[in-house]
Amino acid sequence: MPRTKIAGIGHHVPENVYTNEDLIKYMDTTNEWIIERTGIEERRFIKKGEDTTTTLAAKASRNACKHAGIEPEEIDFIIFATLSPDYYFPGSGVLLQRELGITKTEIGALDIRNQCTGFIYGLSVADQFIKSGMYKNILLVGAEVHSVGLDFSTKGRNVSVIFGDGAGAVILQPTEQEDQGVLLSELHSDGTHAEQLCVLSPGSHSGMHMPDTDFGLDDEKPIGGYFLSEKILEDGHYHPHMSGKLVFKHAVVKFPEVIKSVLSKMKLSSADLDMFIPHQANLRISQFVQKILGLADDKVYNNIQKYGNTTAASIPIALSEAVQLGKVKRGDLVCLAAFGAGFTWGSTLLRW
Ligand code: UT7
Repeated sequence: MPRTKIAGIGHHVPENVYTNEDLIKYMDTTNEWIIERTGIEERRFIKKGEDTTTTLAAKASRNACKHAGIEPEEIDFIIFATLSPDYYFPGSGVLLQRELGITKTEIGALDIRNQCTGFIYGLSVADQFIKSGMYKNILLVGAEVHSVGLDFSTKGRNVSVIFGDGAGAVILQPTEQEDQGVLLSELHSDGTHAEQLCVLSPGSHSGMHMPDTDFGLDDEKPIGGYFLSEKILEDGHYHPHMSGKLVFKHAVVKFPEVIKSVLSKMKLSSADLDMFIPHQANLRISQFVQKILGLADDKVYNNIQKYGNTTAASIPIALSEAVQLGKVKRGDLVCLAAFGAGFTWGSTLLRW
C-alpha cells in the first residue's frame, strides 16, 4: 500500500499587519496583557473588499502547487478546512475549485468543519483516499478570515485579540518510499463542551429561542426567517464566544495525551522527534506542551507571535514557514497536533 506524502506546501497571509497597539484603539486592552497571556505581538487582517477565505486559500494553494511542481488542473480532490467560510452554504471547496480555474468535473470537493483541528482531520481523510488508491493529487487547505466576524469592542476582547487571517495548503500524493510520508493520525472528539467555544448563529438552534409572540396563535407555522433575527443580532450570537480558561485547561491535557499516544503506537518517543508543529492557539499552551514532551527550542516551531491564532490555517502556515526556513528536512520525523472547538483534537506523525 502506498503512503501519503506532502509533495508541496505553501501559505499566504494578508499584507495588513495589526499590532497589539493598533487594537488598543478599539477596545480596553494592553500590549502587556496580550503578550503575557498569549505571546501574540501582531496578526494579519484582510483589507476591506480585497479578499475572502477562498481567495486567501487560492493564493496558498497556488504556492503549494508550484512547490509540488503541478498545475491546479492536475488536482483530483479538494479538502477545505475552515470555520469562516465565504457563505453559509455552499462550502468553500467548490469556490476554491472555481477560483483556481479548475474546469474539469472529475474532481471532488469536501468541506471540513473541525475548527482548529480541521487540518489534522483533513490530513487523515486525505491519507485514507491516497492509501486506497482513489486519488493521486489531493489539495488540502486550511484558510480563515476571522477579522470579518470578530467583535472588536471591549465586550469581545478575550477572543478578538487572539485571532488572525491566513491560509496554508498542501498537495498530497502517494509514495512508495519507506522513509517518507504520513505514519499515523489519531482523531478525538468530545461534544460535552461544544458551546464553550462557538459561533451560535446563524443556525437551526436559533429557532429554540424564538419568542412566543413571533408565532402569534398559529403554533403550526414554520419558523421562518429566524436565522438572524434582531434578538440574535442584539445578543451578538454571530460573534465567536469562548470560555478561555476552560478551553486552556483541556488543551494542556489533551495535546500531550494524543501526542504521546501516536508516538507510542509507532514505538517512538518524543526524543525521536525532529520537529513539533503545534496548532498555534496560544504560545503558553505550546510552551507547556513543549516542556512536558522535553523538547529543545529548536524542535518546536511557533509563529503565533506574528499571525495570532489562524485556527485551521495555523498548522499548514507554520509547517510551510518551517520548511522554507530549512527547519524541516527530508526524512525528519515531524509531529503535528491540534486542540480546539468541539472539543476536537488530534495528532499526525509523518516523515518529511
Ligand atoms: O484555538 C482554539 C482554542 N483556543 C484556545 O486554546 C484558547 C485557550 N484560552 C486562552 O488562551 C486563554 O484563556 C485566554 C488568552 C483566551 C485568556 O486568558 P486567561 O488568563 O484565561 O484570562 P481570562 O479570560 O480568565 O480573563 C482574565 C481577566 C478578566 O478580567 P477580570 O475578570 O479578572 O477582571 C478579563 O476580563 O482579563 C480580562 N481580559 C482582558 N484584559 C485585557 C480578557 N481579555 C482581555 C484583553 N485585554 N484582551
